[in-house]
Amino acid sequence: MLENFVNSTDSGNAGPLLKTFRRLPLEIARGEGVYVWDVEGKRYLDFYAGHAVASTGHCHPRVVEAVQDQAAKLIFYSNVAGLRLRDEAAALLVRSAPEGFPQALFANSGAEANENALKMARRHTGRTDVVAMHGGFHGRTAGAMSVTGVEKYRAQSAPLLPGVTLVPFGDLAAAEAAVTGRTAGVILEPIQSMAGVKTAPPEYFRGLRNLCDRAGALLIYDEVQTGIGRTGTMFFAGRHGVRPDLITLAKGIASGVPLSAVLVRDFIAGKVGYGEYGATFGAGPVAMAAMKATLETIAEERLLDNVNRTSSVAIERLKGVRGVREVRGLGFLLGLKVDADAGALQAELLRRGAIVGTADEPGVIRLLPPLTLKPAHVESLADILSASMGAVS
Ligand SMILES: Cc1ncc(COP(=O)(O)O)c(C=O)c1O
Repeated sequence: MLENFVNSTDSGNAGPLLKTFRRLPLEIARGEGVYVWDVEGKRYLDFYAGHAVASTGHCHPRVVEAVQDQAAKLIFYSNVAGLRLRDEAAALLVRSAPEGFPQALFANSGAEANENALKMARRHTGRTDVVAMHGGFHGRTAGAMSVTGVEKYRAQSAPLLPGVTLVPFGDLAAAEAAVTGRTAGVILEPIQSMAGVKTAPPEYFRGLRNLCDRAGALLIYDEVQTGIGRTGTMFFAGRHGVRPDLITLAKGIASGVPLSAVLVRDFIAGKVGYGEYGATFGAGPVAMAAMKATLETIAEERLLDNVNRTSSVAIERLKGVRGVREVRGLGFLLGLKVDADAGALQAELLRRGAIVGTADEPGVIRLLPPLTLKPAHVESLADILSASMGAVS
């Protein structure tokens, strides 16, 4: 959410790019680790990671080498041919998942992963309806948007798919009333990121699991943001003893090379036949090389430990900054509720050399840094934040 920035190159829609996101007043030249540099050579501490994507940091040498090597060998061949790298990389991903997810489907974006998960839920159950959450964001394609609970985006995409009931996130009674014998699945972001980094107590997730089991519906975790280590565990799935049936992943999965995945429970995977799912570019060689290098880096550099350690430091330190009312979230998916206009604060932070996100909830700054971020970087952010807060309030 960068809505509050004036798009400096947005003069009357003159350029070749159709409008998408409003741009930061930042023309980026290169990145390394937790830093990026603009074209004038100014360095920025990146607490946004390009929408939570640069999981191993910008241009991690291992990822760069893997991509370069693979590009020199074979840039692309589709799933119609076998490829050892594809099998090895996929095996690494499913090994990092909770027990009972033996297979993964690969696609290219978070929205596409969610489309496939919704289709799987419908095909597997033979039902049509889906329960989703107000405030949840699942992507901009027709199905993903139909389960997105943000009115401003829904209104742009009408008419949406029928059979979707939106309920308040965290309200188990509302979910219970919405789930019926026609419900194929319940989809949610276990931490609603864009909504303002909101989560729910453990009983809520356990309750949803029981509800789905009783109704014969599938539980779908959209882990496009929470997955691949961002919350300090490889996945949110497994937390509170709850295992969903489908997990969707994208963003940080390949450190920035476009790739997404659906992790599929055994009892669903066993019923899938040839030709039901697929995408030309899904599981492409370069993307799989990047994913393999990403997963190996997370394991070998013990980045989950780093996220947990550094996140605790961040929560304590940032709570103490004047003007920060609350620090929410888990690991490196943090929301700061601030006594300031979030857009103005974001702009001031950028001017002083730190990139952060805002949220749909007013007054919330989001931090989604690379998993390699260290306490010293938190210290720098705290200083920049204190100074910026003084300047905008
Ligand atoms: C939780 C969540 N799901 C899905 C998506 C859609 O992902 P993509 O933009 O790769 O289609 C996003 C994107 O921000 C997201 O945050």
